[in-house]
Amino acid sequence: MCGIIGYIGKDKCIPKIIHGLEALEYRGYDSAGISYILNNKVKTIKSEGKIANLKKLVTFDENAYLGIGHTRWATHGKANKTNAHPHTVGKFTIVHNGIIENYSEIKEKLIKEGYKFKSETDTEVACALFDYLHKNEKDILKVLKKATSILRGSYAFGIICSDDPNSLYTIRNTSPLIIATDKTGNFIASDVPAILKFTNKYILLDDLEIAKLEKDNITIYDKNLQKVKKTINTFSQSFESATKNGYEHFMLKEIYEQDEVYNNTINYYFDGTIESLENSFKYLNEFEKFDIVACGSAYHTGLVGKYLLENYANIPVNVEVASEYRYKKCFYDTKTLVILVSQSGETADTLAALRKAKEDGIKTLAIVNVVGSSIAREADYVIYIKAGCEIAVATTKAYLAQVAIFSLITTYSSYKNKQIKNDELKSLLEEIKSLANKIKETINNYKTYFSIADKIYKNKQIFFIGRGIDYAISMEASLKLKEISYINSVAYQAGELKHGTISLIEKNTPVIAIATDKNLIEKTISNIKEVKARGANVILVSNTDFKDKFYDEFIKTINVHPILESIITIIPLQLLAYQVAKNNECNIDKPRNLAKSVTVE
Ligand code: F6R
Repeated sequence: MCGIIGYIGKDKCIPKIIHGLEALEYRGYDSAGISYILNNKVKTIKSEGKIANLKKLVTFDENAYLGIGHTRWATHGKANKTNAHPHTVGKFTIVHNGIIENYSEIKEKLIKEGYKFKSETDTEVACALFDYLHKNEKDILKVLKKATSILRGSYAFGIICSDDPNSLYTIRNTSPLIIATDKTGNFIASDVPAILKFTNKYILLDDLEIAKLEKDNITIYDKNLQKVKKTINTFSQSFESATKNGYEHFMLKEIYEQDEVYNNTINYYFDGTIESLENSFKYLNEFEKFDIVACGSAYHTGLVGKYLLENYANIPVNVEVASEYRYKKCFYDTKTLVILVSQSGETADTLAALRKAKEDGIKTLAIVNVVGSSIAREADYVIYIKAGCEIAVATTKAYLAQVAIFSLITTYSSYKNKQIKNDELKSLLEEIKSLANKIKETINNYKTYFSIADKIYKNKQIFFIGRGIDYAISMEASLKLKEISYINSVAYQAGELKHGTISLIEKNTPVIAIATDKNLIEKTISNIKEVKARGANVILVSNTDFKDKFYDEFIKTINVHPILESIITIIPLQLLAYQVAKNNECNIDKPRNLAKSVTVE
């Protein structure tokens, strides 16, 4: 999703801004641009496509010390140079992340006031609004405050006004924005990686706060324009954590990090004893049911969570996609805990679902990766997964860590609700502690998965089937495959295929069948035989050996306690998706049209 970087200081701004834009590339974008002040005038350069195109157009050592840059992920209007940011109207030049919902009505009014628009964007309208308000109010802070009472929607703006060429302004509502400082000057950015080369100290801006950055000063105001003091945070991970470190792709590196991520996440809440789980999660006992709300892969972890919590802890769970949940009638009450799952902690729909629950007086828990993100800050309870920086657009290690958290809370709740015998609990606790070795072993078996990928990568569609928790894993495996390889892939409950979809199965159609749930394996085998009889090329993923060979390829996974099984099962499927995409020469880390952090609804 759109990325913002801005700099004001003693150093030339263009190299810093271009570096920041490159560090934000992982968020996904389709055009880029930069504006800077040169001899008291604003100069803007924009280009369609990659930052490499923009780099060809800029002169790196211009004597410019204040500038803003942007990577745009198209929402209003095509991905072209005209719609690319920054936009200039009158005295204002801005970059924007988010969506202005009422931009059409504002645009109509501004057209009547004589404004003309070049682009199709909501951003140009916001820029014109700033300029219009500035005609009667010279104090830029007051202009921005007034604009917030007019603009509806989500936004983080980087703003330059030609009347004040020594200041960089910023304001946010819902969309993420940080402010940072190094020994040469001050930055704004939508994300930490953008500034990590220069500094690891940053300030989080809250909704409707306005900041004015000068060369050697940062002043932050609340929505009433009262000065506020902010905490300076330190980003504790190294710059290397945001680089490929020798791997061909971030996605591969992140898959390989999963044993370590698992340990970091688990060890934060669990020392091997049930008492540590009690200390970490006792607040869960106040609730009788959970609503898990999330988007994409995070939603898929919720499906795994539902299966685990219902089956092993006897807790009813409702899982919903956030973009639906935020607008639907909810039947929650004070005994419901709404659990928001999000890697970025900034996903607009998930954040809106959280706010809706809070407004209705329902308690919320965030399972989040990015420390200090909006969802983490606003939820009543937070469980941080310790996945570190996840750069590849397709999530892997954050997914695994989220599932690990659901395994942990299921273990705790199953003990608390007396659903597990003492002996089983004892061995489960030991298995949780040592699972990282099995994760590593599963990753190291990559050659098996790659050789199967080599056989199926040319197919136009690939199906996934499974029952129960294996269906939840199928959903994620299918998303992983299609989002990075562009091969059409759908996941079905194994028993549902014959109600229509089976008509798509023909000779050699790959069907990846997941069968790890011992209670359902027999049933899944019957469904596998149905597709096999129609010519499917069946790839079976299972923790069980079978006498009959009713499949074509077999991925044998390690047998672990069912509460932990899904953590292991997803790994071969991540690596298979990776290799299929690689064979198809796809842009694995930045698949087309996708964004890492989806900050618009
Ligand atoms: C898929 C993927 C997305 C995200 C979704 C939610 O690989 O990464 O489906 O899971 O956009 O993002 P977060 O977890 O940041 O809320």
